Amino acid sequence: MSASTASVSPLRQCLRQASKQAHHELDHHPLLTPLLRADLNRTHYGKALAALHGIQASSEQRIQAFLQQCPGWADYRLYCRLPALEADLAALGLQPVAAPSNWPEPTCAASLVGMLYVTEGSNMGGQVIARSIRQHGQDDLPMSFFSGQGEVSDQAWQDFWALANAQCSVDDYALAASTALAVFAAIKIHLDGCRASINATNSRALDA
Ligand code: HEM
Repeated sequence: MSASTASVSPLRQCLRQASKQAHHELDHHPLLTPLLRADLNRTHYGKALAALHGIQASSEQRIQAFLQQCPGWADYRLYCRLPALEADLAALGLQPVAAPSNWPEPTCAASLVGMLYVTEGSNMGGQVIARSIRQHGQDDLPMSFFSGQGEVSDQAWQDFWALANAQCSVDDYALAASTALAVFAAIKIHLDGCRASINATNSRALDA
């Protein structure tokens, strides 16, 4: 992590601590763990992106639908990364795996914070993945999704925390954390379920 525990808010410490094990399970998932490896190839990369599509689509759609009706959050601008992900998949000649039908829904400011934490946080992880891919000399891979907005991503992350810290009281922490965990669990179920599907639909395109 780039920020020390001393410099982060109590809300962020709570969310990070609550989801530490769940994040570990994701970054060790067979579909995602190749992303930081020096031997990452086009096949591994395409499978990871095809799987991530359903996650990004499900979260962005539910967050966007709720932001407008949530007091205090109507002006928050979620940077939608789905078009970038779709451009990368198109460049690879791949189709996304279908989005899951069941996905957590934000129902109040606290659950919105939990969902945004996972989505905006994954953008920060994406920056690390993009840097790693470049360092390994694999930058012929289409990387608009992981590269995100570059420096603007850091500002978006700070903006998220400024609003989350202001809008979320200590009493809300537990609900924000349980919602973040529900999203992590939904991601894990989706990743587990789509491995076979990816192999079936994309293996010919990837091997070409
Ligand atoms: C859909 C999958 C993923 C989700 C939802 C996710 C979520 C998150 C979240 C919420 C954070 C912020 C933690 C905090 O500082 O409070 C984060 C950070 C991070 N993630 Fe992930 N992550 C995912 C996949 C991955 C993968 C596959 C890797 C590596 C292979 C990874 C590496 C990182 C790293 C290095 C950070 C720290 C970034 C920084 O502090 O600059 N993540 N991720």
